[in-house]
Amino acid sequence: MPLLEIHQLRKRYGSVEALRGITFTVERGEFFGLLGPNGAGKSTTINILLGLILADGGSIRVFDTDFAAQPVAIRRRMNVAAALTSMNGVLTVRENLGVYGRIYGVKKIKTRIDELLERFEIRELADTKLQYLSSGQHTRVTLCKGFLNDPELLLLDECTVGLDPDIAEKTRRALEQVQRDKKTTVLFTSHNMSEVEELCGRIAFLSKGEILRIDTAERITRLIPQQILEVRFQPGTDLSHMVFADGVPQAEPGAANSLRFRLDDPEQQLDPLLRRLARSEARIVDLQLKRPTLEDVFIKVARGEL
Ligand SMILES: Nc1ncnc2c1ncn2[C@@H]1O[C@H](COP(=O)(O)OP(=O)(O)OP(=O)(O)O)[C@@H](O)[C@H]1O
Ligand SMILES: [Mg+2]
Repeated sequence: MPLLEIHQLRKRYGSVEALRGITFTVERGEFFGLLGPNGAGKSTTINILLGLILADGGSIRVFDTDFAAQPVAIRRRMNVAAALTSMNGVLTVRENLGVYGRIYGVKKIKTRIDELLERFEIRELADTKLQYLSSGQHTRVTLCKGFLNDPELLLLDECTVGLDPDIAEKTRRALEQVQRDKKTTVLFTSHNMSEVEELCGRIAFLSKGEILRIDTAERITRLIPQQILEVRFQPGTDLSHMVFADGVPQAEPGAANSLRFRLDDPEQQLDPLLRRLARSEARIVDLQLKRPTLEDVFIKVARGEL
């Protein structure tokens, strides 16, 4: 039984169709990514799940319950951390988290807040007013807020925006850890592709309010079959003599002393090419096979090329 079932969800803002009937399910314990260009409908989906906006059509079941019938009970078992969560600037970090703790009915609030401040390394900011925090520190407070009630379903909308690389890495570890320990189900959006690739088991690719594909990052990157083999030769090598027989892709000049081979069908072309290179006189000093990344696919989808 999926933990979250979204069926034909629709939302329109005037003439903008933010969601054109999206359908997907998320299993318990999954780390599920929503990926798509600006305006694709990711935050709209999350805000509907939070009860912040109403859908125009479709249905949602969470914890095997109809969302429309039991919104309050369901939302107690969920939480959100979003980059743009507005909290009260004149209250301190601890006071803000205290307010949310009471809303969510968290027991032993003080201990829980201390634990989370420790986990996201902002303990020394506990008594600082929110308005004085840097944006990365603010983001870490929103993450603490997201975990306050040990949610079964955690919605993370660009929750790592503005974090420095060190804290972003620690945040990913913390997310992985709670997800593993508590079997938390996570619905995740981010424009950081390597983060999405690292954390998400499955990804729904959204564009203009429609889901184009749902799959693992690995299978989504295979939407672009081409790979590039870049070979660097010893300085001074005469590359004009690198004329290869049929069946081997033609080379384009790469960086200094390098050739780039574009492989449209790597499984067929790589082996003969490497054999041919090995037989040539030229001495190879470096070799890199560049596979498409999720980012490459994303760019093609955003430009309507896939
Ligand atoms: N309150 C609103 N009023 C009018 N239009 C809205 C409103 N909220 C969202 N939209 C529109 O709905 C569409 C989807 O927006 P949404 O915020 O869901 O995109 P997103 O996928 O989260 O994008 P981003 O990557 O920029 O966060 C956009 O075209 C946006 O302009
Ligand atoms: Mg958004």
